Amino acid sequence: MIESNKVKKILYGGDYNPEQWPEEIWEEDMRLMKLAHIDVVTLNVFSWAALQPSEDTYCFEKLDKIMETVTRNGMKICLATSTGAHPAWMARKYPDILRTDFSGRKHKFGSRHNSCPNSPTYRKYAKRLAEKLAERYRSYDNIVAWHISNEYGGECYCENCERAFRLWLKNKYQTIDAVNEAWDTAFWGHTFYDFEDIVLPNILSEHFAPERTTFQGISLDYRRFNSESILDCFRLEYDTIHAITPEIPITTNLMGTYDALDYQMWAKYMDFISWDNYPAYNAAPEDTALRHDLMRSLKQGKPFALMEQTPSVTNWHPYNALKRPGVMRLWSYQAVAHGADTVMFFQIRRSIGACEKYHGAVIDHAGHENTRVFREVAALGEELDRIGDLTLGSRMKSKAAIVFDWDNWWATSYSAGPSVNLHYCDEIMNYYKAFCDLNIPVDLISVEDDLTGYSFVAAPLLYMVKPGHDEKIRRFVQEGGRFLTTFFSGYVDEHDLVTVGGYPGRLRDILGIWVEEEDALPEEAGNRFTYQGTAYPATLICDLLHTESARSLASYEQDFYAGMPALTRNAFGKGFAYYVATRSDSNFYRTFIGEICAEAGIFPLLDTPDCIEAAERINANGSFLFLLNHDAQTHEITLNRTGRDILTGTEYKEGDTLRLAGRDVAIIQTV
Ligand code: GLA
Ligand code: ZN
Repeated sequence: MIESNKVKKILYGGDYNPEQWPEEIWEEDMRLMKLAHIDVVTLNVFSWAALQPSEDTYCFEKLDKIMETVTRNGMKICLATSTGAHPAWMARKYPDILRTDFSGRKHKFGSRHNSCPNSPTYRKYAKRLAEKLAERYRSYDNIVAWHISNEYGGECYCENCERAFRLWLKNKYQTIDAVNEAWDTAFWGHTFYDFEDIVLPNILSEHFAPERTTFQGISLDYRRFNSESILDCFRLEYDTIHAITPEIPITTNLMGTYDALDYQMWAKYMDFISWDNYPAYNAAPEDTALRHDLMRSLKQGKPFALMEQTPSVTNWHPYNALKRPGVMRLWSYQAVAHGADTVMFFQIRRSIGACEKYHGAVIDHAGHENTRVFREVAALGEELDRIGDLTLGSRMKSKAAIVFDWDNWWATSYSAGPSVNLHYCDEIMNYYKAFCDLNIPVDLISVEDDLTGYSFVAAPLLYMVKPGHDEKIRRFVQEGGRFLTTFFSGYVDEHDLVTVGGYPGRLRDILGIWVEEEDALPEEAGNRFTYQGTAYPATLICDLLHTESARSLASYEQDFYAGMPALTRNAFGKGFAYYVATRSDSNFYRTFIGEICAEAGIFPLLDTPDCIEAAERINANGSFLFLLNHDAQTHEITLNRTGRDILTGTEYKEGDTLRLAGRDVAIIQTV
């Protein structure tokens, strides 16, 4: 789909469900789509029931017609496999396909994303359907991508999953003694004598709430197992399709910061990343930017597909406020600015029944083109046609990175203590926002990613240090890199077992400190530190630490630990390691991150008013500086480069003032 020679522009379109409509409407859809400059449709997302009405019957005639219709009309196709919801007959005949939830309740037929990932029935028939689709449509040269299933997710606690979990554990640990050791089962007399003793960790066993468990080890392994079980389903379809159409790239639509699936592991098995972006009406621009950057970084910066967004409203947020005029365009370009090479919607035509009938669509219930939403969609389509292939394949060049790790996310959310207000993504966001505020490009990398090319790596809440990660960081700093971490870091190994000898465990020599205690502050409490003459708040956690080789940069001002360091810097090899022992506010993060970046030779793309986001992508056509005005008012920016706005054709010289209207976008190309 992206990076394919069939594609010469930013693909524009989205989920199209003609099977929900009489055929007379299809031709009208084609007219309207052309009017909107739409050139790609995602087909067949939820059609399993129609494609396989009974165990031995498959029925592709309607899909054939749909494929022919869109092809005749010049559309590219992103072809889905329909395995995101199983048919009713299958649930009745093979109940093993139904999921069991966290409370141990076996589900009945209903909803979607409802199949047990370890169900032999699901796997058998999902693979068969994928195979039949690939065989049948392999000769269509306008298929630009396969879209397997839809928004994989959830979890299952059925007996099949329990058996599969035991096998997974056997494979991982070999012996039951190794399991006992990894989970520290000597605690509360939990020793397992046999793999058969092990049951899934849910409300009937180790949990007393979804995120509250008495044994972190088993719960963490269940998370990994569940993510891999669902990934196995994806891979099964992937391998089947890839063998038949090796030249067509394969994806599945991800969901940004979705906790149940370790997308970094998933990405290894996907040809390209695609994801669905549904910010709430009041989402901060950096919330969305973080998700785009995370999705882009899953494949080391390779462009991704924006697979879904709403043109106007969703139906499932608490308040489904309209995207104000200009916001759909602004958020589309925000995706492109962060690495998207497609702009796609859910959905082309608004359905008339069930829970998504009030979800926004390109074609509204009014059924014609005379709507605000349609006009905005068409205008953007026309603009994307004009941009053509100019920006395609361009990359962002980040010299800074933030470590994002699903195991750390899971482990910190399962941790009993230190504070209920400690949330992995919040801490990541505190640091990410600082880079955003400064207009400094940043990648969100995994613990496995190579650090070459980065000058500064921040790893907030690096609670779990996996084997080899400390050594990678150690070498990075020794060779001149700058590294930052925070409170509640370096505590445990990959099994969530504490590294004894003083926190931050394996990171201790790099940071040149040791942490003796941590004080979890209730919401009404707070401490303070002064850094370079400015007082900043210290909240959430205050580590009580001792410097070894590090130097204290600021210390607490209150309570019995007043005078102890809140901020340290350690010279280590040719580089430096920073430790932030508490949570502070955005002013602090912006200042501190800005300083470290400057020391590391990393500078803002340019200075802008706070509401103007700047991002840059680079390819053989030059560099493209995206300026996105997230405010409704006009703002001015002084440019620090010479170039041409590819949207308006206006030429600018370095030092010129660019006036950007409310919610408007400029893309300055410098060759
Ligand atoms: C998800 C799904 C779509 C649709 C939209 C609605 O992204 O993939 O099928 O339900 O949400 O926002
Ligand atoms: Zn199951």
